[in-house]
Formats: sequence, structure tokens, C-alpha cells
Amino acid sequence: MKQVRFAVVGGGMGKSHIKGISEIPEATLTAFCDIDEKIAKTVAEANGLDKYYTDYYEMLRDGGFDCIVLCTPDQIHREQCVAALEMGYHVLCEKPLALNMDDCRAIDAAAKASKGKFMVGQICRKTPGFIKAKELIDAGKIGDIFFIESEYAHDYAHIVSPWRWDTKNLRPAITGGGCHAVDLIRWLAGDPIEVMAYSNHKVLLDKPVDDCTVAILKFNDNVIGKVFCSIGCKRNYTMRTLIYGTKGTIICDNRSASIQLFEMGNLDENGHEKYEPVQYPVDINHHNATGEIKDMCDIILGDLPVTITAAEGSNTVAVCEAILKSCAEGTPVSPEYIV
Ligand SMILES: NC(=O)c1ccc[n+]([C@@H]2O[C@H](COP(=O)([O-])OP(=O)(O)OC[C@H]3O[C@@H](n4cnc5c(N)ncnc54)[C@H](O)[C@@H]3O)[C@@H](O)[C@H]2O)c1
Repeated sequence: MKQVRFAVVGGGMGKSHIKGISEIPEATLTAFCDIDEKIAKTVAEANGLDKYYTDYYEMLRDGGFDCIVLCTPDQIHREQCVAALEMGYHVLCEKPLALNMDDCRAIDAAAKASKGKFMVGQICRKTPGFIKAKELIDAGKIGDIFFIESEYAHDYAHIVSPWRWDTKNLRPAITGGGCHAVDLIRWLAGDPIEVMAYSNHKVLLDKPVDDCTVAILKFNDNVIGKVFCSIGCKRNYTMRTLIYGTKGTIICDNRSASIQLFEMGNLDENGHEKYEPVQYPVDINHHNATGEIKDMCDIILGDLPVTITAAEGSNTVAVCEAILKSCAEGTPVSPEYIV
């Protein structure tokens, strides 16, 4: 069986990707790098590697792998992606692609010029409940979407990783974590043409960014939507998402064992719609790194088109950037998409 040799960079989310690599027969881990030597050594040893790297560029020079999985701080995605792509490596980069459109444009240009395949890890597109929702929408089960809303509600109060709270290179909540909900909306309903947004900072007062954001989205064909992002909320993590169509409604999230479809045509004795939801069972897998690794192997070995390109990742950041601009200026803003 042909193999794809992977190098993983970063020992936080990187561990999920290493597990994903171990679960895919066509994938082999051949290198690991973390700037923190203790992490680099521990992870390498735990995975049977006889060498570890603390210097990304030394690892690039040594080679011995086909695809790099970047699980490093968002602020350095640009330099690490561009360096790998210029050397012709395939790259799977964690989301968000970057924290601003300047960085995204540089990565997109490098990806377009490289012989390497480049994918962004927008994981909601690999989450079973959301895949099922998309299947139902594409099959016409809810008719035409007229309203969509998604939330990213995740309490970051105890998340300590310093790069998330870097005051010199801010990681806005809507781009850092909220990009999941923005990307999911784009995947299910298309690109918003205008956003109007507000944010506040009332919970994580020791952190340097607004912790709550809400944006109203306007799409073509008079479709509207809403995204909500809170990293200070006092509840369990959820990405509850509602998709309202002219014939039905889907309610789903990333942490439940089923999604709900409400359809028309089921009348009660008074001739009114009953709207009892059909439950579709789904696996709970809100970080399906194995699915991403499998996708990457299929794309590389089959020379297939990339499913979540640098442009796709960039355009999710474009919406986040428009939301931030709208919050700052108090006016509607159109995202600046790239093609
Ligand atoms: N898909 C998801 O749901 C999800 C969830 C969490 C984080 N992420 C993304 O994954 C990426 C990593 O986040 P994390 O939670 O694993 O962070 P983390 O802080 O837990 O881990 C990052 C690791 O990168 C290492 N590192 C930093 N600079 C480096 C460099 N120059 N070279 C090599 N290693 C370096 C750090 O030492 C650290 O071990 C980010 O892009 C983040 O947004 C995605």
C-alpha cells in the first residue's frame, strides 16, 4: 500500500493528528517538531521516532516526509506554511488559516504557486452531524434556506496557552474560535455579502480581546443569518446550529448523538403541521482529525483536488475580518473575498 509520510509540528492539537495518522493505514508519522524540547522529546519517544526537532527549518531541510501538519500558533501559520509550500511539501494547516487577510493572501499565493497540496483544517466540515445536515440540505429536504444561525460557545477562562492572549499580536475570539461557526455557515449557506456586528467584553476581563460577538449576515437571494461567538460563556462547549428552509428546519450541533429534521406534511387531527422531528443518529466527533488525515492521504495519493483550499480558509477569515471591522466602525461591512 502506498504511504503518505507525515511530519507533525506542535504538540497540543498535534497529538490528535498523530492519533489520526495512527488510525489511517496509508499514513505514517516520520517526524515531529515542537519548539519546546520537553514536548518534542516526549511526543517523539511516545511515537517511536528516534529523532525529534525543535527547529522547524532544520526539519524542513532534513526532509523524509511528504506532508506537514501544522498545529502551531495562528500567528506563525503564514511563515511556516509559506516555507513548506516553497519547498514543495504538502501541508495540512490547523484553522484559522491566519489571523488577518494579509497573511491569508500570502499563504494562498504560495499554495497556488506550489506543487504541494494545501488544506485548511476547518474541522466542522469533517464533523458527522454537520456532514449529515449538509447532505439533507443538498437533498432538498428543507427547501431553500432563508435563515441560518450558528454559535461557537466555548469557555476559555482556563485556557492558558500564552499565544492565545498575546497583547502584541491579538487573536480576536471571532477569528480564533468563532471561525468554526463562520466557516460552517459559509459551507452550508454560501458567502455572506455584508455583515453588521457588535461585540463586548464583560466576562474574561483579564484577557485582551472582546469575549462576545454577534453578527447579522446578509447573503445573496435575500437570505439572512447570524453568528454568535462567546469565549466567556458559562456553559459546556457547543456549536448549536439552526438552518431554516422554506420546507423544513434542521437543528444540529457538534456534541450530540443525533441531529433533528423538522419536515412539513405530517398533520394532526386539526389539520395543523405536527412538526415532530425526525432524529438522524450521528457519531459524536467534534475533532475528527482522523477524517482530515484520511482526506489528505486520498488527495495526495490520488492527486485529487483539495477539499478545503487556502482560498476557502482565507474567505472564512475574510468574514471574520469584516465582522471585526463592523464592530469597530459601527457600520455594515462587505467581506473582501479572494478567488
Ligand atoms: N480544530 C480545532 O478545533 C482546534 C482546536 C484547538 C486549536 N486549534 C488550532 O491548532 C493550532 C494549535 O493550537 P493548540 O491548541 O494545539 O495550541 P498549544 O499551545 O496547545 O500547542 C501549540 C504548540 O506549538 C508549539 N510551538 C510554538 N511555536 C512553535 C514553533 N515556532 N515551532 C514548533 N513548535 C512551536 C508550542 O510549544 C506548543 O506545544 C492553532 O492554530 C489553533 O487555532 C484548532
